Amino acid sequence: MSPKIIRGSFLDFVDDPFFQSESDSVRYLPDGLLVIEDGKIAAFGAYKTLSAKYADAEVISYGDKLITPGLIDLHVHYPQTEMIAAYGEQLLQWLDKYTFPTEAKFKDPEYARTIAAFFLEQLLHNGTTSAVVLTTIFPESVEVLFEEARDRQMRIIAGQVLMTRHAPEFLINDAKTAYAQTREQIQQWHGLDRLLYAITPRFAITSTPEELTLAGKLKAEFPDVYVHTHLAENVQEVKFTAELFPESTDYLDVYEQFGLVGDRSIFAHCIQLDDSAFQRLSAAGSAIAFCPTSNLFLGSGLFRLDQAKSTEYPIKVGLATDVGAGTSFSQLQTMGDAYKVMQLQGKSLSAFQAFYLATLGAAKALSLEDKIGSFEVGKEADFVVWDLQATPLMKLRNPQAQSENLEELAEKTFAMMILGDERTVRATYVAGELVYENSNV
Ligand code: GUN
Ligand code: ZN
Repeated sequence: MSPKIIRGSFLDFVDDPFFQSESDSVRYLPDGLLVIEDGKIAAFGAYKTLSAKYADAEVISYGDKLITPGLIDLHVHYPQTEMIAAYGEQLLQWLDKYTFPTEAKFKDPEYARTIAAFFLEQLLHNGTTSAVVLTTIFPESVEVLFEEARDRQMRIIAGQVLMTRHAPEFLINDAKTAYAQTREQIQQWHGLDRLLYAITPRFAITSTPEELTLAGKLKAEFPDVYVHTHLAENVQEVKFTAELFPESTDYLDVYEQFGLVGDRSIFAHCIQLDDSAFQRLSAAGSAIAFCPTSNLFLGSGLFRLDQAKSTEYPIKVGLATDVGAGTSFSQLQTMGDAYKVMQLQGKSLSAFQAFYLATLGAAKALSLEDKIGSFEVGKEADFVVWDLQATPLMKLRNPQAQSENLEELAEKTFAMMILGDERTVRATYVAGELVYENSNV
């Protein structure tokens, strides 16, 4: 089969712009070529250098459009798609009033499949090609998500949500049953095509010690699966957790006690954490999912990204929408709110840092940096074509789509993350295949 060749302006990262200068971490090819074979990147470089070698091949040219690696959403709930933007509550009340009744519907596999398909299409329309996804307590809701993701060749990490207490009867499972269901799903799905499995206790409040013990047992039995949960999002939640686990020194210690904190653990939020917990997350090599739109929407607080990105105790961080507490599937909108969360703390966040958190940074958070997150040769060819002039306002703001240098690119991509949304996505490719094209352009 002949290779597929894409021409355009390319932006990706070769290092972490939180720790290295922009010139050492950002790779920008104003006129580049991406060569794809068997869904993987076979060559990548300047048009000038590579074009002679592929002189006879047909080139798909995106002109002055900007092409980045496919975005990664480090934490999102697919069953909450339909209850996004539910009014006026903080976490625990919001769960009781809106979230739990909605998740009950996912007992019906047909219903779950319809929403799973809609959800995955939303990701693709927003340039997100990989995601770490929560489901519900119903095994069918996991299966349909994996099936739909597999049909689309997407890299999805997911698992059955574990809940055994402090929720309505219709969302309570038995710990031993959930253990057996999860075990079976790991064997069926983990590593199948691009799919991976995450053991997913919802949060400490909804799991009994027995369930967390069994989750730890599963992690010990299958060390290369992920652990995915919420941690220290909201003040009331932290207080209730301390009452439920009086022998734990803090919230993170609950998960530590059960063997759930390691280099494949992803913790969403981490707002109400002290320095000791940050240091322990760093030492364990765990990852934090930073969910700014959700944290603002539920009034949970401001994530200390600068602390997570300290040189002393660095923690892997990825950006996440956390729909349905998050208010958008767009990682651009999420970057915009991440910037505002930092501004409220007297700090800042550059566009390059924001894009890093949604690409190579998130890939590293998942220990998948050998497979996704940049245009390194050999990686899977997931990428997004962005139109920096997608709306009249964006066109006024960016009269020239293309950037001559990194300084110009920094300014234009910043305007894009503040003003952009799904309209900014011109096309999305998964494993080298065009899976979405914006018909409004
Ligand atoms: N903590 C436990 N469950 C949830 C959830 O569904 N959303 C958010 N944002 N936090 C949670
Ligand atoms: Zn969440």
